[in-house]
Amino acid sequence: MLKVSFMKTMFVFGTRPEAIKLAPIILESKKYFDTVVCVSEQHKEMLYQVTDFFNINIDYNLHIMKNSQSLFDITSNILIKIKSIYEKEKPDIVIVQGDTTTAFAAALSAFYLKIKIAHVEAGLRSFDLFNPYPEEANRKLISAIATYHFAPTKLAYDNLQNEGIKKNVYLTGNSVVDALHLILEKLEIENTHFDVFKDIDFTKRIILFTSHRRESFGKPMRSIFEAIKQIAQEFDDVEIVYPVHLNPNVKNLAFEMLTGFKNIKLTKPLTYPEFVYILSKSYLVITDSGGVQEEAPAFGIPVLVIRNTTERQEGIVANIAKLVGTNTQKIYNEAKLLLTDLDFYKSMSNRVNPYGDGKTSQRIINILKELK
Ligand code: UD1
Ligand code: UDP
Repeated sequence: MLKVSFMKTMFVFGTRPEAIKLAPIILESKKYFDTVVCVSEQHKEMLYQVTDFFNINIDYNLHIMKNSQSLFDITSNILIKIKSIYEKEKPDIVIVQGDTTTAFAAALSAFYLKIKIAHVEAGLRSFDLFNPYPEEANRKLISAIATYHFAPTKLAYDNLQNEGIKKNVYLTGNSVVDALHLILEKLEIENTHFDVFKDIDFTKRIILFTSHRRESFGKPMRSIFEAIKQIAQEFDDVEIVYPVHLNPNVKNLAFEMLTGFKNIKLTKPLTYPEFVYILSKSYLVITDSGGVQEEAPAFGIPVLVIRNTTERQEGIVANIAKLVGTNTQKIYNEAKLLLTDLDFYKSMSNRVNPYGDGKTSQRIINILKELK
């Protein structure tokens, strides 16, 4: 295939969800453009689980991860370390995804050098600067300096228009669905044996649980874990699977509060295929993850969102997700309803995905191909 010589793209990312959502776009970009990949290493183990799986070659690594890193560490280290790489590579466009501090700092650095920025998953808003924190601020700040805005849904598109961002805004879908399709194509998931699940009793109903948000650290997270304990104690026929995030604020509390229960299985962070496998086998998902809210509908699995706000309103509107906050009793009651009332469960288990159709990467690269 003939590469288009006028364009050099540079992808900058650092965490697990960015890697998952950018991987299909990087693979598509490589078909047409000079494509440079730079990771901040905001995540380490959880990042390489993804890049290795998708065979993404890393050209530059800023090596910024520290144990219990602060937002200051992440932002300042990226700003300082990325400048010389941008100056050397001179990309025509820097592509960032979502709302992490890596995405924000990489965009800000590009802006300082007047390099064009393309923002994937643009326009998500919770309209509460502290929920999720610091992501709502990160994504708004990126919108203010980006040249191209790839909105995953109509709602995200409209959010940008309402903020006066009207130029170069494109409705593309969310590339998380492309990643999901790639996984399902690449692996015969049904026939794969995953050692990590050898202790899981698949005759029981699986509840897949994940939790990692900064605004939940401390008391709200204790309250969430308490609900998980109560569900496990009350329902013998469920198996709660919790791949524990490596953030020490999460990991330490999870092991303190949730070990010693026969039907709560704490695992290491799962590889993407392992995660998709267990998701496909789940009866119910309880999560504060953005990406997981977008993936569960592909399998028709109801989601309880353990947050006070969500920027993924599409799932709420489609009645496949419910915002339940962090209160123990509320989470327990909502889970109980889904575990005991089959009609209610069925009303929430529609296999529709409002987030994408698997063609987002092609759309984004086609738009970039048109730029001259
Ligand atoms: C980050 C993002 C968040 C995103 C989440 C996805 C920011 C501020 N936060 O949050 O938006 O939803 O990733 O998971 O951008 N750690 C490891 N190994 C790893 C990854 C993390 O040990 O592979 C530990 C380190 O001690 C690190 C800590 O986790 O300091 C926190 O990582 P950080 O990226 O700051 O925050 P997350 O909570 O992961
Ligand atoms: N995920 C994974 N392994 C896990 C947990 C999640 O591969 O153990 C994937 C999941 O499929 C989703 C993404 O990671 O695509 C979500 O990441 P996370 O919840 O850390 O971040 P968020 O989406 O909230 O920013």
